[in-house]
Amino acid sequence: MNWSGAAVFTRNFTNCSFNRDLTAIFGCSAAHGSLIFSHDMEEKIPYLDLPAQIRSVRKELDAAIARTLDNCSFCLGPDVTQFEKDFARFVGAEHCSGFNSGTSALHVALLLLGVGRDDEVITTPFTFVATSWAISYVGAKPVYVDIDDATFNLDPKLIERAITRRTKAVMPVHLYGHPFDVDPILAICRKHKLPLVEDTAQAHGAKYKGKTVGTFGEISCYSFYPGKNLGACGEGGALVTNNAAFDKRARSLREHGSTVRYYHDEVGYNYRMEGIQGATLGVKLKHLKKWTEERRRVAHRYHELLAGTPLQLPREAAWGESAYHLYVVRHARRDDLKKHLDDNGVGCALHYPLPLHLQKCYAELGHKAGDFPVAEKAARECLSLPIYPELTDKQIQRVVDVIKDFFRK
Ligand SMILES: Cc1ncc(COP(=O)(O)O)c(C=O)c1O
Repeated sequence: MNWSGAAVFTRNFTNCSFNRDLTAIFGCSAAHGSLIFSHDMEEKIPYLDLPAQIRSVRKELDAAIARTLDNCSFCLGPDVTQFEKDFARFVGAEHCSGFNSGTSALHVALLLLGVGRDDEVITTPFTFVATSWAISYVGAKPVYVDIDDATFNLDPKLIERAITRRTKAVMPVHLYGHPFDVDPILAICRKHKLPLVEDTAQAHGAKYKGKTVGTFGEISCYSFYPGKNLGACGEGGALVTNNAAFDKRARSLREHGSTVRYYHDEVGYNYRMEGIQGATLGVKLKHLKKWTEERRRVAHRYHELLAGTPLQLPREAAWGESAYHLYVVRHARRDDLKKHLDDNGVGCALHYPLPLHLQKCYAELGHKAGDFPVAEKAARECLSLPIYPELTDKQIQRVVDVIKDFFRK
């Protein structure tokens, strides 16, 4: 095993700079380009403590990466194939193909469904922008429907009136790890013969009525961005389906439209998962169930300790079991509270400060403030608190104390 070679790659583990922008996102030490807070700031609670997660599985990751360096399977390869099998089993699906991001998996999902120019796809304005990118990439139009105030997810009651003869798919998101209300949405899809695409980028292992999300629709797409519940040591994504023909074509589209080398059946993409990411995801997948339980422990502790404060807390719907990718509280004075947390060394974040219909990139859709009032209010009020498996009871208590201090003042 070539450990000196592995050391070059795994040096990144020390600072967890798997993506150049993580430092800005998670509020860590910019000087080191790292997520680790410097020693004189040890009391601070980072919004996300990726280094703690990496430390907990470091030996396994080192061995997996060294194996990839030995076999030189850098694009797809045996570790990706094994991960695809294991992840399909985890979701309870027939097929899983590894991608280089969740965004590319979503793009291919819409290609598989034949969505194209001038078509419409119904989706949520309150999500990470990549959900809408996939629609734009195929030349279609995102048609937004407002969200349900309690779960932040697409409101099933509003979908039907948005359907036109151009509608080609419905693409809700299991936002923050909480499942959307699958049954009424599926009923509308069946009635109008529309395929359902689940954006499962934030909901690895979340459950709807006891069943893991990811196989309710024709296709579901996962992200393995490093900060996700199951995160690669770099970029990664997956397309999951029970449809063998979709799976076969997805594998071709991710590899330049080719199944036989240098023969190209259609215009394709370079969307392959890297071998090293297959190897690292294979390691982390083994811990995902335990990590999800730990996230749920943190969420329940917050529920207990924050009850009685003026905050609106996230609640699981009767039919849902959240994977708690995020723990998002709400308050009208959200910006002041965020500043108070920042000033007191508690990392927090906004998901998302501006709904998609009001983003500059979608100005041509012609929306205005007030079009989706529930999403707009959520964008003004939501605040994501630190949540990760490694968060200790002591740290949770400190987050809560700082919040209570804000309301006392
Ligand atoms: C809801 C949602 N959809 C899609 C994506 C895109 O995934 P990726 O960043 O892997 O391209 C993300 C990632 O942040 C996401 O949160």
